[in-house]
Amino acid sequence: MMKVLIGKGSPLEDKTACLVLGVWEAAQRSTLLQELDEALAGKVSRAFETKEFGGKAEQILELDGGSLPAERIVLVGLGSDRGGGADLLRRAAGSVSALLRQRKVRSFVCDLPAAELDGVDARSRVAAVIEGVALSGYRYDRYLTKDRDALPTPIAELKLFAGGAAKLSDLEAAATEALILSEAVCFARDLVNAPGNLKSPAYLADQAEFMAEETGLECRILEEAELERRGFGAMLGVAQGSARGPRLIVLEHRGGTLGDKPVALVGKGVVFDAGGISLKPGEKMDEMKMDMAGGAAVMGALMAAARLKLPVNLVGIVPAVENLPSGTAYRPGDILTSLSGKTIEVLNTDAEGRLILADALTYAREFEPALVVDVATLTGACLVALGQHASAVLGNEDSLIQQLLTAGERSGEKLWQLPLWPEYRKQLKSDFADIKNIGGRYGGTITAAAFLQEFAEGLNWAHLDIAGTAWEDSGRPCAPKGGTGFGVRLLVDFLRHRLPEADTETD
Ligand code: BES
Ligand code: MN
Ligand code: ZN
Repeated sequence: MMKVLIGKGSPLEDKTACLVLGVWEAAQRSTLLQELDEALAGKVSRAFETKEFGGKAEQILELDGGSLPAERIVLVGLGSDRGGGADLLRRAAGSVSALLRQRKVRSFVCDLPAAELDGVDARSRVAAVIEGVALSGYRYDRYLTKDRDALPTPIAELKLFAGGAAKLSDLEAAATEALILSEAVCFARDLVNAPGNLKSPAYLADQAEFMAEETGLECRILEEAELERRGFGAMLGVAQGSARGPRLIVLEHRGGTLGDKPVALVGKGVVFDAGGISLKPGEKMDEMKMDMAGGAAVMGALMAAARLKLPVNLVGIVPAVENLPSGTAYRPGDILTSLSGKTIEVLNTDAEGRLILADALTYAREFEPALVVDVATLTGACLVALGQHASAVLGNEDSLIQQLLTAGERSGEKLWQLPLWPEYRKQLKSDFADIKNIGGRYGGTITAAAFLQEFAEGLNWAHLDIAGTAWEDSGRPCAPKGGTGFGVRLLVDFLRHRLPEADTETD
């Protein structure tokens, strides 16, 4: 794990391989920047005059350390918007550290947490910078056997200056927490990036058990026979096409008061989604190994909750299955009897996520949860609606949705609400069963949520569709190509700020 120190006084006096300073695009230069300019014989002001560097967001200027104790200097632009939240620092820290890893710099000193942002305290600024460095440094490289020396070097040590009057011990605590959280995100990323040949439902269950053992969570795995005995008909329908049997992963964190109703997190765990008999087209089918990203987010959030000792009772439920076509696969036209007793007509075997979630939501009732949030790469339609920059949130309880939206803003894992009006339910009317599993061409993200809503009746429930955000296909400052771990930071932020008074019963 990266080592983090919190500095005091002026960052200019540190002997370091690299000094990183954040620079606003404003006309007014900070005292620190003026001091730096003097020490570098006017190189900074010349860069401004020639417009080589102006402090635009994520713009970078590299300079030699000159007479300073630092070997090199990196200025990173912050732009001019102080109101956009801590994500600005996360991204700046991410792009700087990516550059430094290429330069083989293993440790640096950085004043980014000193940047004054509207409504963001020093603890959150320290956390954002650490997350930026840790998350941009992630890479799934365990299967790269050649030229490992050419891989970028990881950052081993980081010293942060936050300015202001915040207590050192508070900032150190924030730093430790940010490292723990980042590790949980990377744990989720590892699960998402794991290839399908390795990642059976049993593998996912094993990973949950190992993680639970390390962190002190309770873990229970329901295997196929047990699922049959209990009547998980919808989940078993999806699973029956694969030779690798299903598992239901249940993780518990008891951080709250004994007897307090838990928060239930439910995550879609389709380890590979070929579509089943309603086979998907070949293009990009490889990416469907990420169809358990909701489950990974839930496992990551539980891991973080345990390590951070969050004062809340939590249960994580991940139905893990594989959706393949085969001689034993379920077919379009099949009617499944779900755990709830409701019957489902399957008109497309590729709409499998909602089937396994239906049973998982029903199972969640056993825990009498105060609220349930499910997380799923549920619909391609979500990519059409929101693209890759936000996830959809829908639900039956407005204060829960509001709290999730706020957590999304704070964490930078953005959510956007879609409506769940009763009209949409009509699109799911079946001729032969209580409900069908597809709702026609239009409003696919909403009709999928409307399907889930049938199984969330009476629960205080929200659904996150992360189909567009779970996988990064080009690489961003804090998210290299592949699984993003989306949802871990969002859920932990939600749990930290949750207002239990706002949980209400719904009808
Ligand atoms: N796992 C997919 C959704 C998905 C698509 C996630 C692209 C990430 C990227 C889901 O199981 C699925 O196949 N949904 C279908 C539903 C349809 C058959 C009603 C879809 O979106 O096409
Ligand atoms: Mn599918
Ligand atoms: Zn799927």
